[in-house]
Amino acid sequence: MSSQELRKFYVTTPIYYVNDIPHIGHAYTTIAADILARYHRGRGREVFFLTGTDEHGQKVQKAAEARGLSPKEHASLMAENFKNLWKTLNISNDAFIRTTDPGHKKAVRELLQKLWDDKLIEKRSYEGWYCTPDERFWTEKDLVEGRCPDCGREVEKIEEQNFFFLMSRFQGRLIEYIEKNPSYIQPDTRKNEVLGFLKNQTLGDLCISRPKKRLSWGIPLPFDEEFVTYVWFDALVNYYSGPGYLAPAEVDWWPADAHLIGKDILTTHAVYWSTMLMALGLPLPRTIFAHGWWTIEGKKMSKSVGNVVDPAKVCHKLEGYGIKREHAVDAFRYFLMREIPFGHDGDFSESALDQRVNTDLANDLGNLLSRTLTMIEKYREGTIPQPISIKFRKNIYSESGQQLTLEGDVKETFLNLEKDQVFENHYAHLNFFAALNYFWEIAVKWVNKCIEDSAPWKEKDQATLSNVLYALAESLRLIAIYIYPVMPSTAQEIWNQLGIEQDIEKELRSNPKLIEWGEYPIPGIKVNKGNALFPRIVLAPPLIAKTKISGTPEIKQKETRKLQEESKKQEEAVQPAAEQKTENLIGIEDFAKVELKTGKVLKAEPVKGSNKLLRLEVDLAEEGPRQVIAGIGKQYSPEELEGKTVIIVANLKPAKLMGLESRGMLLAATDSEGTLSVLTTEKAVLAGAKIK
Ligand code: MSP
Repeated sequence: MSSQELRKFYVTTPIYYVNDIPHIGHAYTTIAADILARYHRGRGREVFFLTGTDEHGQKVQKAAEARGLSPKEHASLMAENFKNLWKTLNISNDAFIRTTDPGHKKAVRELLQKLWDDKLIEKRSYEGWYCTPDERFWTEKDLVEGRCPDCGREVEKIEEQNFFFLMSRFQGRLIEYIEKNPSYIQPDTRKNEVLGFLKNQTLGDLCISRPKKRLSWGIPLPFDEEFVTYVWFDALVNYYSGPGYLAPAEVDWWPADAHLIGKDILTTHAVYWSTMLMALGLPLPRTIFAHGWWTIEGKKMSKSVGNVVDPAKVCHKLEGYGIKREHAVDAFRYFLMREIPFGHDGDFSESALDQRVNTDLANDLGNLLSRTLTMIEKYREGTIPQPISIKFRKNIYSESGQQLTLEGDVKETFLNLEKDQVFENHYAHLNFFAALNYFWEIAVKWVNKCIEDSAPWKEKDQATLSNVLYALAESLRLIAIYIYPVMPSTAQEIWNQLGIEQDIEKELRSNPKLIEWGEYPIPGIKVNKGNALFPRIVLAPPLIAKTKISGTPEIKQKETRKLQEESKKQEEAVQPAAEQKTENLIGIEDFAKVELKTGKVLKAEPVKGSNKLLRLEVDLAEEGPRQVIAGIGKQYSPEELEGKTVIIVANLKPAKLMGLESRGMLLAATDSEGTLSVLTTEKAVLAGAKIK
């Protein structure tokens, strides 16, 4: 079913082990689910978005004992870590399920009872190799060098009575189902992996119990209270139990539309969960999507390496660059989705994040908003103009020679976006990377390019200018809607700066047609230009990478340490304090655009008819001297200047003063008393020296 036909949308994340401290991996799945949830809400669908914590099992029991708490108390405290991070990351989950909820436990017992009644669970004597930390049985042939194939730790031979779910019976049906429903397991590489596994080995039955004497922290089996439920059987049921007691009852939520998971838990979902549902006679979810894993600067993330990325800290660091907290969160969300296709593995580094912020968010998006609002302020006193229907079109041409009109082309772009459904299709396939990539090219960068090509600031025709300014404001209103799922706060801020006060999600939910051009009456609205959405981050040059160190190992070590310290200092130096106002600040790259040089004044004379201007001939070590006209005649006599080293802005566009061309500007300081002093260098330097 295409996402267009859906009336409701039910999306889940894995429920996270409550003992873990949430990190970028957990955040990744949850942000992706949040994006889907927000996207579908915005398209007018009833959405239920479920996340939560997996709280039973030996590890939780042990951690609680070590803290002197009951397992439930321990779990309640730990679950807060997840809830807090989801709040920080602006996650809009509709419910938070805990496997220790009475509603969930009841559902697990009911489903177990049904399988027992239907004779799909059997009690057997069992002998196997048990990995205590993983709480999992392995057969002799599963072991790798006599150890757990999953974690490599020692296993214990155990013989005991246990309950088995007759999973093997469903092998054929599952293969058939996956083959008939190509979008059931996504991406295709993962589907093929599962099919390969199912076709090449005989599926065994699944041990779904643990004797209470060995593990008491679990859900007792309804038909034998001496046993508790295997954690995975308990955890997977959350997807089905959750809507039963946590979602609005009037909607039939099952089956789920998308289970988002990481690639490491594909088998438990694609095989265990699917066969459990088949055995229960319940429909299967529409899609199980397994995403890839993030490494951190090329290394596997692990506590022992000490490179576990805390998303809250990453966002906090962005705040340190002067980016508002909500926008820093949005930047992090955008980065995770834009950096790698969902489904692939990726590598995280803060420098890549900073770079992305500067290019896509500061340059493309932020700049588009700020230049549009500046023009509306300048040319229409801050009010979005009414578009005027006129025949006249300004003729400009694209590189391919196609005729463009800014207002017409921008409008066309957005009409086509809805018509061609490319963006929608990318979302339907959870291809956030492609959706964002496409949108940036076709909308954000394109509108910016249209502005550059058509230069509205040169437009003399007032009707055309009104149309252009309206088209830019309207395109920003729509851009906000399109980016809303990924960057909800930024989208809202764009609306607010455009002068639209309404809550973007509420408006969209009540009228999804607002995504269409002209569907919202913005003419007449007073814009509300605020701070830059994303102030540029000053990127520190990677000192170490650039420096070649040679010498003995001792020297190398010493030099490396020195560089590391310098690099750290540099990094600290380039981070403006969070509270620093950045409105009027420019980045180093802006400063670098100005070419300052030393020049020797060869000749100076008054400009006829002016008591202020002097005509200077300045040597800048170029082919010939430059003529510079300077307004310093009241303070300096020509004689005082001749032979002096002065500072010249060398790449200034030539200007005419009293009919004389000035090729550059001489720098001088003026204090509050009106004293003017020409800038010079502290030591004698040759003419033409660069000032940096
Ligand atoms: N409790 C089970 C899931 C039960 S669902 C019925 C579980 N929990 S978990 O806390 O270990 O896993 C959470 C999720 O985080 C998994 O989807 C996993 O893929 C993901 N990630 C953990 N580390 C990751 C990365 N480095 N990168 C991306 N995702 C990663 O498994």
